[in-house]
Amino acid sequence: MTLDGIRIVPLRAEDREVVRQAAELLVEGFRANWPDAWPRIEDALAELATFATDDERVAWAATDADGHVLGWIGAIQGYSGNVWELHPLVVHPDHRGRGVGRALVEFLADAARESGAFTLWVGTDDEAQMTSLGGADLYPDLLDHLRDLRNLRQHPFGFYQKLGFQVAGVVPDANGFGKPDILLARRLRGPADA
Ligand SMILES: CC(C)(COP(=O)(O)OP(=O)(O)OC[C@H]1O[C@@H](n2cnc3c(N)ncnc32)[C@H](O)[C@@H]1OP(=O)(O)O)[C@@H](O)C(=O)NCCC(=O)NCCS
Repeated sequence: MTLDGIRIVPLRAEDREVVRQAAELLVEGFRANWPDAWPRIEDALAELATFATDDERVAWAATDADGHVLGWIGAIQGYSGNVWELHPLVVHPDHRGRGVGRALVEFLADAARESGAFTLWVGTDDEAQMTSLGGADLYPDLLDHLRDLRNLRQHPFGFYQKLGFQVAGVVPDANGFGKPDILLARRLRGPADA
């Protein structure tokens, strides 16, 4: 796909229309497979508001030439800035599979690297048995389950793997029994940069 005409801009609270579209995307984008994430527009607006009030949070939106929001990405800076958590990421359903998600993640990775971070990580929930970890009792052989992780229905951990993330762990039952959070991490800078 061509990404011509797409801009990645800071998501700012004063851009009310951009914030509104970003909130709608969050509700719509997660509704099918993560219904408890941001069920109402108020929930999504509350999440977006944290990016204006919390100094450790940063966010950018991908917009088309007319200013429509095609997707957005956020991050939370932790471990004294050494580690950034990607949270959240969503691409408009009509614009998926065209490289927008990749562009947003690479933009975030560049920003984190330039600020001195070593690691970008993400937790991606499986609430709808989209992976082999969904619906399963992960104890006592947690690491065996993780080693045998399979993608059954286009769970986004596959997207992150394509972008250089490695599976780094799992939080069992994070969203209720059989609904784990899959953790992935990507190196931004190596030992030579330390
Ligand atoms: C996951 C999501 C952000 C991907 O965005 P996108 O713009 O469609 O992704 P891209 O087009 O940039 O895809 C980049 C690569 O990842 C692949 N990919 C995309 N989604 C994938 C998935 N679910 N599983 C495996 N691979 C996937 C693409 O095929 C592409 O591969 P290629 O480079 O070999 O062609 C988007 O589907 C989305 O918003 N989903 C709903 C919300 C969500 O899951 N957010 C992340 C939760 S943590």
